[in-house]
Amino acid sequence: MKRWQGMTLAALPVVLGLVFIIGVFANWFPIQTGRSTEATASGSGSGGSSGPVDTSDPGAQIFSQSCASCHGANLEGQTGPKLLGIGSKMNEAQLVEYINDPKPVAGYPPIMPPKGGLQSDDQVKQVAAWLAKQK
Ligand code: HEC
Repeated sequence: MKRWQGMTLAALPVVLGLVFIIGVFANWFPIQTGRSTEATASGSGSGGSSGPVDTSDPGAQIFSQSCASCHGANLEGQTGPKLLGIGSKMNEAQLVEYINDPKPVAGYPPIMPPKGGLQSDDQVKQVAAWLAKQK
């Protein structure tokens, strides 16, 4: 009897290990199949995601990601001034200069970050080019 109990105790980690491994495999397979369907779904659908503004232009995409939170998804203004028609007020070069080094605008808190929070000059250029077309 004593010996049998000892055997059971010795077998316990093995049994638990097996249960664990079976559990891991049982979970692993659905996750794998789930991932592969997800990958094909997002692969075919990646071109179709549309933001609030015209997303065919990279500048528009940068705007909706980095500027819309303050200037509104449709340039209507929020924390920052509205940018509707900004293209008739500033040209692309002036926009690049402004975005790189924002100047205070009456009636708004001076909170626009340098580069509008963007990382690269390329992005500033693209968003400025797009804004310059918003007349
Ligand atoms: C944290 C909020 C915030 C973000 C993010 C932000 N802005 Fe601004 N923006 C402002 C504020 C506030 C002003 C008014 C100037 C000031 O005092 O900072 C402003 C002013 C401007 C102006 C001048 C408007 C005018 O009528 O003269 C332009 C152009 C502009 N922002 C473009 C952008 C672009 C492009 C981005 C994204 C790359 C951006 N902003 C990101 C808050 C923001």
